[in-house]
Amino acid sequence: MGNVFRIQRDGPVLAQGDLVLATEDGTVLRRLQQAAFCRCGKSGHAPLCDGTHRKVGFADGPDAGGKVRVDPLPEGAPEDGPVTIVLKATGSLRLVGPLTVVDADGREHAGGRASICRCGASRTKPWCDNTHREIGFEVEVKIPP
Ligand code: FES
Repeated sequence: MGNVFRIQRDGPVLAQGDLVLATEDGTVLRRLQQAAFCRCGKSGHAPLCDGTHRKVGFADGPDAGGKVRVDPLPEGAPEDGPVTIVLKATGSLRLVGPLTVVDADGREHAGGRASICRCGASRTKPWCDNTHREIGFEVEVKIPP
């Protein structure tokens, strides 16, 4: 199924595939085949989940998954291959490349670009709605070993 991002209700997003972790300027930091990325914004090991979501009572909320924000693959773009996960200290988990997001209700959303909230405060989780700007979200990004 290629690159898959499975939203865990009230928890992280489990990613599997050819995952390229990169900075905003395109510098490749690491390649991984699987990872659990934090969505609550409280992990001590951001961008990865460290289980803190349970302690802080992170919850997706009533609108979870309601407004799908996955853009289609651009015309002529390869339908398989790596997906880039753009890591930045402030803001969403930006995914670029062939991907499928499976929401917490099991619905599949295939496309070529998506922004998953990782500050925990979006009103349209799992999708980013730019609330990170309102709350001044910023975390130190630690690159997984
Ligand atoms: S989602 Fe697990 S620590 Fe944030």
